[in-house]
Amino acid sequence: MTQRVAAVTGGAGAIGTEICKHLADQGCKVAAIEHPAAAERAEGEWKEEMKEAGYDFMVAIADLGDHDSAGAAMKQIEEALGPVDILVNAAGITRDAAIRKMTPQQWREVISANLDSVFNATSHVFAGMLERGFGRVVNISSINGTKGQFGQSNYAATKAGIHGFTMSIAQEGARKGVTANTVSPGYIATPMVMAVPDDIRAKIVAQIPVGRLGNPQEIARLVAFLAHDDSGFITGANHAINGGQHMH
Ligand code: CAA
Repeated sequence: MTQRVAAVTGGAGAIGTEICKHLADQGCKVAAIEHPAAAERAEGEWKEEMKEAGYDFMVAIADLGDHDSAGAAMKQIEEALGPVDILVNAAGITRDAAIRKMTPQQWREVISANLDSVFNATSHVFAGMLERGFGRVVNISSINGTKGQFGQSNYAATKAGIHGFTMSIAQEGARKGVTANTVSPGYIATPMVMAVPDDIRAKIVAQIPVGRLGNPQEIARLVAFLAHDDSGFITGANHAINGGQHMH
C-alpha cells in the first residue's frame, strides 16, 4: 500500500498524540501541527517522548487561525514528507462561560481556534487531494456540537459548524476519491475535560451509560479507520463515540 502522508492539527495534544501514533502504526508518515504557544513543548519534550516510544514525527508550527500561517505549515510538510493525503483537524480549545458572562474575546478565540482553523488547514490541501484522486479529511467535533452544553455556546457552535463543513466538502470530494468525516467524541480523559470542576465532571460522568470517561486511544482507533485506504465508501458522516451519553 502507498505510504500516506498525514497532517494532524493539535497533533501534540492528548487526542492528537494518539491519532499521530495510530496513523504511524498504520504506515503513514506523520506531521503534527502545533500552535506557537505550544512550540517549545512540541518540538522538545513531546518529540523526544515520541522518539522514546519509537515514533519519528515531524512538527510544524502554525497559528491555524491565520490562513497564511496554515499555508506555510502545509508547504513545510509537503516539502519534507510529500503531499498531504490525510488531514485530521484535531486542534481545539475551550473558553467556557454562560452566555450572560461570555466575552466577545472568549467567543472569537474559540471560533478562530476550532472553526477558522478547519477551513484554513483544509483549504491548502484539498485541491491537491482532488488532483491526485485520493484524500481523507477527518474533523474532530464533539458530543456538544449535537447536544449543546451549558457554558459552551461558543464551543458547541464551532463543533456543530464543523459537521456542516464536513458534509459540504464530502460532496465536493466524493467523485475524486476524497472522503470527509466528522468524529464526535464525548467526554474523554484529557486535560481539557479534567479542567472541568470535579463536582460538575462527576455529574457528567454519571450521565454516561458506559460508566466512565473515554480514552484518547479509543478516538484515535476510529480516526485511523476512517483515514484508511479501504474506507472510501464512508463519507459525510458524523461518527459519535461517547459511551452512549447522547444517542441520535
Ligand atoms: N444546567 C443548568 N443550570 C446550570 C448548569 C447546567 N449544566 N450549570 C450551572 N447551572 C446554573 C447553576 O445552578 C447556577 O444557578 P443559580 O444562579 O440559579 O444558582 C448558575 O447556572 C450558575 O451560572 P454561572 O454562569 O455563574 O456558572 P459558573 O460561572 O459557576 O460556571 C461554567 C459555568 C464555567 C460553564 C461551568 O458550569 C462549567 O464548567 N460547566 C462545564 C462545561 C463543560 O461541560 N465543558 C466541557 C469541557 S470539555 C470539552 O469541551 C470536550 C468535549 O468536547 C466534550
